[in-house]
Amino acid sequence: MGKIDFAGKKVLITGASTGIGKALAHAFAARGAHLALGSLPQEETLLNDVVKDIRDAFHVDTWCFPLDLAAPEGPESLYQAVKQETGDIDILVNNAGIAIYGKFWEQDPDQLKLMVDLNLNVPARLMRLFLPDMIARKRGSILNISSVSALQPTPYQTLYGATKAGLQSLSQGVRAELKGTGVTVCTLNPPYVDTDILRHGGFPRHLRWFAISGLKKPEWVAEKAVKAFEKQKFLYVPGFRSWLVHIFLLRLSPKRMVDWLSPIFLQGRD
Ligand SMILES: NC(=O)c1ccc[n+]([C@@H]2O[C@H](COP(=O)([O-])OP(=O)(O)OC[C@H]3O[C@@H](n4cnc5c(N)ncnc54)[C@H](OP(=O)(O)O)[C@@H]3O)[C@@H](O)[C@H]2O)c1
Repeated sequence: MGKIDFAGKKVLITGASTGIGKALAHAFAARGAHLALGSLPQEETLLNDVVKDIRDAFHVDTWCFPLDLAAPEGPESLYQAVKQETGDIDILVNNAGIAIYGKFWEQDPDQLKLMVDLNLNVPARLMRLFLPDMIARKRGSILNISSVSALQPTPYQTLYGATKAGLQSLSQGVRAELKGTGVTVCTLNPPYVDTDILRHGGFPRHLRWFAISGLKKPEWVAEKAVKAFEKQKFLYVPGFRSWLVHIFLLRLSPKRMVDWLSPIFLQGRD
């Protein structure tokens, strides 16, 4: 499959009022894409600000969908609202997500359930809803925002890592099933990025790991991500150092060493 030309394409991004989603919205709009953007209803004002900035800077069409995706019919409501207001979309970016920090057995069961719903079930349901339309039109693409946490154990963010590993597996499997349909699935696997997700959910201000990985800016990640997605890269880890650690070194390292080092590096350093 060749490069995607984003000009004139309709891109739906969930969780676009802040962080990586907002930065991705700017990066797609800069390439001439029209945007359908989602957020939680209570962040509608923030989302409207994002839309205003994008319209002023790039003169593309924009639509807002402030909907709680974790509500029982959240994904179905978003699908119906998007179809009604924008028609078919060309690209779905499953970005909305949350993370929780701490020992697994001490975490609030309701928060754990919410995280599995939002990080894994919601993207799966949105893919299930939008894929038949894309397949019928013989074109379309999905970008799932996974994480480097999908690639090895992540003590203290264990279920978060498991949701991202699940999303990774789902993306890879569906991608294979889609062969020959004209529709593709890609994943972005960012390292730690300086966004609100790390300021909620009980995260320490600094993890020891930040001394090695650094903390990337969402705009930097989004620009690299959109370039990689344009070329349909499947598992894209932005930044050479992160690629070296997560794709190369960690895979070659003995499992016992990874199990021993990961809880040390993923502890707080306040
Ligand atoms: N930051 C990192 O270190 C990092 C690293 C790897 C992967 N990621 C992934 O990147 C994605 C974006 O995260 P981020 O870092 O940009 O964090 P963020 O700024 O907190 O963004 C998360 C987004 O998800 C939306 N969201 C949360 N709950 C929702 C719900 N119930 N319904 C609809 N939208 C909801 C939020 O919407 P509101 O703004 O309306 O609350 C927000 O826009 C996540 O999937 C995350 O797992 C992040």
